[in-house]
Amino acid sequence: MSRIDSLVAAMTLTEKLGQMTMATGDSAVTGAVMRTGLDAGIASGAIGNVLNIAGADKARAAQRLALESRLKIPLLLGLDIIHGHRTIFPIPLGETAAFDPLLWEATAREAAKEGAADGLHMTFAPMLDVARDPRWGRIAEGSGEDPYVGQAMARAKVKGFQGGRLDGADTLAACAKHYCAYGAPTAGRDYATTDVTPRALREIYLPPFEAALNAGVATVMPAFSSIDGIPLSAHRGLLKDYLRGKLGFDGVIVSDYNAIAELIHHGVAADVVEAAALALKAGIDIDMMANAYHDGLPAALQRGLVTMTDIDTAVRRVLRLKEQLGLFDDPYRRGGVESATVLAARRQLAREAATRSIVLLKNDGAALPLAEGRLAVIGPLADAAGDMRGCWSAAGVASDCVSALAGLRFALPHQSILYAPGVDIESDDESGIAAGAALCDEADAILLCLGESAAMSGEACSRAHPGLPGKQAALVDAVLARAGGKKVIAILFSGRPLVVPDLVARVDAVLAAWAPGCEAGNALADLLTGRASPSARTPVSWPRAVGQIPVFFGERPTGRPASSADHYTSKYLDVPNEPLFPFGHGLTYGDFAYTGLQATPDRAAEADGFTVSVTLTNQGPRAAGETVFLFTRDKVASISRPMELKGFSRITLQPGESGTVSFSLAARDLRFPGPDLEPLYEPGEIEILAGPSADRARLLSATVRLV
Ligand code: GLC
Repeated sequence: MSRIDSLVAAMTLTEKLGQMTMATGDSAVTGAVMRTGLDAGIASGAIGNVLNIAGADKARAAQRLALESRLKIPLLLGLDIIHGHRTIFPIPLGETAAFDPLLWEATAREAAKEGAADGLHMTFAPMLDVARDPRWGRIAEGSGEDPYVGQAMARAKVKGFQGGRLDGADTLAACAKHYCAYGAPTAGRDYATTDVTPRALREIYLPPFEAALNAGVATVMPAFSSIDGIPLSAHRGLLKDYLRGKLGFDGVIVSDYNAIAELIHHGVAADVVEAAALALKAGIDIDMMANAYHDGLPAALQRGLVTMTDIDTAVRRVLRLKEQLGLFDDPYRRGGVESATVLAARRQLAREAATRSIVLLKNDGAALPLAEGRLAVIGPLADAAGDMRGCWSAAGVASDCVSALAGLRFALPHQSILYAPGVDIESDDESGIAAGAALCDEADAILLCLGESAAMSGEACSRAHPGLPGKQAALVDAVLARAGGKKVIAILFSGRPLVVPDLVARVDAVLAAWAPGCEAGNALADLLTGRASPSARTPVSWPRAVGQIPVFFGERPTGRPASSADHYTSKYLDVPNEPLFPFGHGLTYGDFAYTGLQATPDRAAEADGFTVSVTLTNQGPRAAGETVFLFTRDKVASISRPMELKGFSRITLQPGESGTVSFSLAARDLRFPGPDLEPLYEPGEIEILAGPSADRARLLSATVRLV
């Protein structure tokens, strides 16, 4: 008899439900519901899994309690290690801007090592929710608006977190979340309902999760939200039938925080008994923090709403995950002290990731890199070390972070750098604006450090006006009125694209820094001084106005495409249709010309493919890295097709140097969900487009044919 068989045979119902329960520790607060009795629950076997414990000693102590319980089943310990554990990397939306899967994997690998060294076994990451609504604060946690990017991120993060084998001393079980379409909430409000079509699910929201499954992700977390009136925590169609049945996922499904109990609020369960039964029948194995399985399943058994087989199936999955993690073989395998060398190398990676995440959105008159001279650094985010962590900063601490001001002062020790916050991030107090603006008189260039605090994005942080909070706009007005023609550079710190068209129009240069992590200030100093060249590209469109939301490049064509010459076409009276900055936009200190797009052969059958190449020349004064995007558009198909991203690749060129970027494009990758939503290969013409962003005006185009 296997270990799992003998354990299941020996377990009481309470112990079985314990393996299906995850309770929170006190190292982080990630939900509204709190409970007491954690240690007693672990010791009695009533709690078999714990989240939010950080620190090897705490982890070891909790594990010891579990190993002293009757059946000595080891504890599973999880934490939201989303973009670093103690060493904080850029938030995922920022890191995506590097468009480098190897970097994405490397930071996850390092985060896993650091989390495992703290005794952890599991992270609730990667977050794979495609998002096109900057009002939604959790756009910060994902990889932006495009499913192709989401798939690449999923593969990289699962591989990075889980390493070569799940039972390694430095690996974490990953968790693909939040399944699914959580990023399309009504009105951009977190937790709100999503009403997406089955086609949108298959074209946009499911592909990153399928990529995570194909990469071997160990666990999946359903979203808080509902689709078409069915909460994901009770969605048998999408969990049991599609995820488990059609995609064959047999790993652990862990609910989101208290989500099972919230089925009552959703109005699909009358009480915790029905809620527990719905979740179990849908395929959820672990109840995070609702205690619904503990409180509700015994009565659900008696009412015949669930069977003991349903329960045993869930218990087996949890025990199997613990076996895969090596917890039975050596429950203390994870947990140890890392060397100073390892930590220093990790910080260097954080600096590289930050440097490659910061997008140069505008650079009129080559305002950047900065010329020698006195600097005025003004704004509430200039010396905000803690806010550089962004949302979901796990065990990261403010004192480990380098602020923009600190980074500049360290990089330019002999240069005059004057500083004033001017205003707080969110308050209405304008009393500091005059002093802030007055610094312009003593400066040759002015840096405005503006944006959101770390607490203004992430979970439960939707904003109806996703612009500059508080009185920052008033500070901008005062500084620009005092700048007297000196260069003014705005650095925007945020968890989302900010809607700031006036600011962008009025300053000379703009950097989207997102939340760059613990090495923020050093990375910014590298970019501002020209020691590094910006190469990041925005993974999400920047709206010109809130009224444009959702604005994204992959919109399906309309029968009345916008035309300024024709009133009866799809456009606004008051703003252009185009975003302020399109997907993929980002400047460098180089100047790249694109020529000679080739797609060969000119036709291919389903089993074959195309080679697409384009030549770039750096006509600029400095070396720079350029990311080239490959899009396709199926001009005529049985289903109307949007422009789709099919590849991205990076090239670094010296001034005057030319180089060729090539893509392999398999004909099979041009299939799409047909009328029955199954992958359909359809002969016909395909437009091939390549260029620096989704801006059609900057794309080279060629045509091939599928036969
Ligand atoms: C939170 C989040 C989820 C997180 C979980 C555990 O509510 O929705 O992303 O992993 O709870 O902290």
